Amino acid sequence: MTQKSNITSKATLGTAIGRRRSIRRYLPRPISRPVIERLLLAATQAPSAHNRQPWRFAIVDDAAGKQTLAAATGRRLRQDRTADGDDPLAIEADVARSHARLTEAPVIIVVCLDTGDMDRYPDARRRQAEFLMAVQSTAMAVQNLLLAAEREGLGACVMCAPLFCPDAVVDALGLSSTWQPQMLVTLGRRAKAGKSRPRLPLETVVAWPRRNADADSAG
Ligand SMILES: Cc1cc2nc3c(=O)[nH]c(=O)nc-3n(C[C@H](O)[C@H](O)[C@H](O)COP(=O)(O)O)c2cc1C
Repeated sequence: MTQKSNITSKATLGTAIGRRRSIRRYLPRPISRPVIERLLLAATQAPSAHNRQPWRFAIVDDAAGKQTLAAATGRRLRQDRTADGDDPLAIEADVARSHARLTEAPVIIVVCLDTGDMDRYPDARRRQAEFLMAVQSTAMAVQNLLLAAEREGLGACVMCAPLFCPDAVVDALGLSSTWQPQMLVTLGRRAKAGKSRPRLPLETVVAWPRRNADADSAG
């Protein structure tokens, strides 16, 4: 397969899992609404706790919206890094890089969650568990979306910026105050192929626990 066909061709879902890479630079070509809706439909097929589907998606594909979002996240990035005492030149370079990545992406999908339909508990332990289930469900939807993008021959990248300034993102985009921004996904036709990043070997991340016979007999 040539490099060109490799970065533009569509994948089956099976090959999409192996081929997906975070893509951060895109060709300046719009993505049509039906394509975006296919990705969102794939996202919403994900499993969710109690099937409450807490995921919410704000689609930003106009220049003004991208500017507003990039300005809001950039302001917070600058504030946070200034408070950290970082080098002002490095901060401005970081803010400019983030701004370019957002404004040059053909589409930004801001992924939020709404806990309004989740179960309610009187204690903090179960409230935290329920909140985490909403986060887990939303993350599963995003993985579906990334694989669907790969299947469409598109590139995408998750960015965590909204998690660091959720209120600013809600305000900038005029979202419902019940939507809690978690991340965003930039989306477009790849400007170049993604880099393959190493994965930890299975033995580092997998345990095969054996039943502890001593603990059994102690009980
Ligand atoms: C929750 C989450 C947050 C991420 N945030 C960022 C980000 O802010 N900026 C970025 O360039 N990549 C971000 N990424 C992409 C990761 O850097 C990328 O997935 C990782 O390096 C592995 O590369 P791959 O996706 O190409 O396999 C994020 C990924 C996840 C899952």
